[in-house]
Amino acid sequence: MTYARITGSGSYLPEKILTNRELEGLLDTTEDWIYTRSGIRERHIAAENEFTCDLAEKAARAALERAGRTPAEVDLVVVATTTPDQVFPSTACLLQNRLGIQGCPAFDVQAVCAGFIYALDVVYRYIRTGGSKCALVVGAETFSRILNWEDRSTCVLFGDGAGAMIVEEATQPGILSSHLHADGSFKDLLCVPIGVSTAHQEMLAGKAYTEMQGKEVFRWAVTALGDAVIEVLEANGVDRGEIDWLVPHQANIRIIQAIARRLDLSMDNVVVTIDRHGNTSAASVPLAFDEAVRDGRIKPGQKIIFEAFGGGFTWGSMLIQT
Ligand code: COA
Repeated sequence: MTYARITGSGSYLPEKILTNRELEGLLDTTEDWIYTRSGIRERHIAAENEFTCDLAEKAARAALERAGRTPAEVDLVVVATTTPDQVFPSTACLLQNRLGIQGCPAFDVQAVCAGFIYALDVVYRYIRTGGSKCALVVGAETFSRILNWEDRSTCVLFGDGAGAMIVEEATQPGILSSHLHADGSFKDLLCVPIGVSTAHQEMLAGKAYTEMQGKEVFRWAVTALGDAVIEVLEANGVDRGEIDWLVPHQANIRIIQAIARRLDLSMDNVVVTIDRHGNTSAASVPLAFDEAVRDGRIKPGQKIIFEAFGGGFTWGSMLIQT
């Protein structure tokens, strides 16, 4: 049996940090409101000439180095992003070219904040069925570009960044199972209401930015993610007490705390980056994972749950053995 294992991770955050205090000067908001409602103190913002593929490349090179692999050994490139550099080619093709490799499949996955879980699921299934031996999977976003910086109810919540993993075929399990869901009937609760096909009519109406009905999104995220973490435990016959780490999507500290409670997990066993990163959408799970691997909290042989929730709605959970 072929298994899929994460053999290296990397991440990158743009240099510029935007604090809540700085936002106080730009919007009718306070440092305290943002922190108490969301858990965010600051976020990173890409420079004017810095794009999603730039962030993705830095994270990808760091993951390759960690895995001890060269770009030439990669046989599949999957990038999760909601903020691609161009309409096409995909950011995965741009990244493949940056890495100086040709020929292997490269494509983007779009599931907004659940994008990395979706992309990792694709890679997991490719490897399990013999379609890849060494895959590069990246979550990268310049979400700041699709925010209305005059809308205090959304712009304070997001940030830019990238995280990457190398996933390889192995004889021992790494990714134990993966469970994805979507429900398009919630399309209007969290969205950018125009796209390439509709832009010609509405671009001038100032609709190219993220809109969110925060309270409803919050409620659905807590319910869907709570069910998703129980689903992944039950699918593997694993007890709550066997989980070493929760690496959650970082949208709101109160959502993260609610999911930790569903797992009877102390917050000491939850990787939290939201205070420093904000919500980096598809980048948040691999950024958090990489941070905890690099600082030594995540160790070989541990059981970890990944979960994420995003626009669509899309959501999912995975059980990983490091
Ligand atoms: N600063 C100050 N006040 C703000 C504000 C800001 N940045 N943003 C909104 N407010 C105001 C609102 O206008 C509202 O005022 P009103 O009562 O006079 O109408 C008040 O604060 C309370 O807003 P409310 O929506 O009740 O706050 P909340 O406790 O639900 O927290 C969110 C708001 C957005 C932080 C929260 O709903 C949330 O995190 N939702 C889910 C977000 C998410 O997960 N998104 C991504 C999923 S991938």
